[in-house]
Amino acid sequence: MDPARGKTLDVGNFGIDQSHLPAHDAGPFDPRLLFAAPAHSFEIEIGTGKGTFLVQQAVRQPNTNFLGIEWTAEFWRYAADRVRRRDLTNIRVLHTDATELCRFWLPDEIAAVIHLYFSDPWPKSRHHKRRVVQDETLRHFHRVLKPGGELRLVTDHVELWKWYQEHAARNAELFEIKPFATPESANAGEVVGTNFERKFAREGRPFMAMTLVKRPTPSVAISAARSSSQPPNPRSFSRLPDPSPL
Ligand SMILES: C[S@@+](CC[C@H](N)C(=O)[O-])C[C@H]1O[C@@H](n2cnc3c(N)ncnc32)[C@H](O)[C@@H]1O
Repeated sequence: MDPARGKTLDVGNFGIDQSHLPAHDAGPFDPRLLFAAPAHSFEIEIGTGKGTFLVQQAVRQPNTNFLGIEWTAEFWRYAADRVRRRDLTNIRVLHTDATELCRFWLPDEIAAVIHLYFSDPWPKSRHHKRRVVQDETLRHFHRVLKPGGELRLVTDHVELWKWYQEHAARNAELFEIKPFATPESANAGEVVGTNFERKFAREGRPFMAMTLVKRPTPSVAISAARSSSQPPNPRSFSRLPDPSPL
């Protein structure tokens, strides 16, 4: 898997590797401090891939800071290099597992939006636990989102869509389901305009999308989940095998 096709990539100060995360017991890691203007609104994209959504949308929201999180090193490098070449100072791309980052590192109520587009569907039952959306991750997304914050979901995968609907229904005390609003950066006829959407659109696949809006439910359950979990060593993440190629 070489999205750069042999080209040398340079992540500069725009790409951050998980080995630079502080130790878990040093307290929460606040990614807003990675930016020159940390008080600006803050959004997260999980599974940034080649960074298409980020580079398109960040120029339209110059007063928002975006953190892309990408697990696969090749895509992380590709996306961060792309951001560096465009000098988009309101984007950083972090190389790590976003679910572990949410569970163990991110502070409460920091993000206005969490974007999750064309997440790997992991179709085999024994791999469902690898899907990003789980009851536990939804509780953490709820904790990490600001009041009224949004989790935006788009997929082409019918089974994963059903999974999203079931999880949204089961966690209705945390989130209200609302229609998905297409971002300004999408082209005419697109839902969100990511690399995967463009690839799948050429294959004629249909897309499903929803927005889960944070309800003002106290995050009591999640505090317990945090303190009962074993923090991993950030250098030893190895849970996810390679995803499908972009
Ligand atoms: C199918 S691709 C979609 C990429 C992009 N969102 C798009 O629509 O073009 C899914 C991406 O999510 C990344 N990914 C999967 N699970 C992840 C996780 N837990 N944390 C961070 N990245 C993850 C994969 O490495 C892959 O690049």
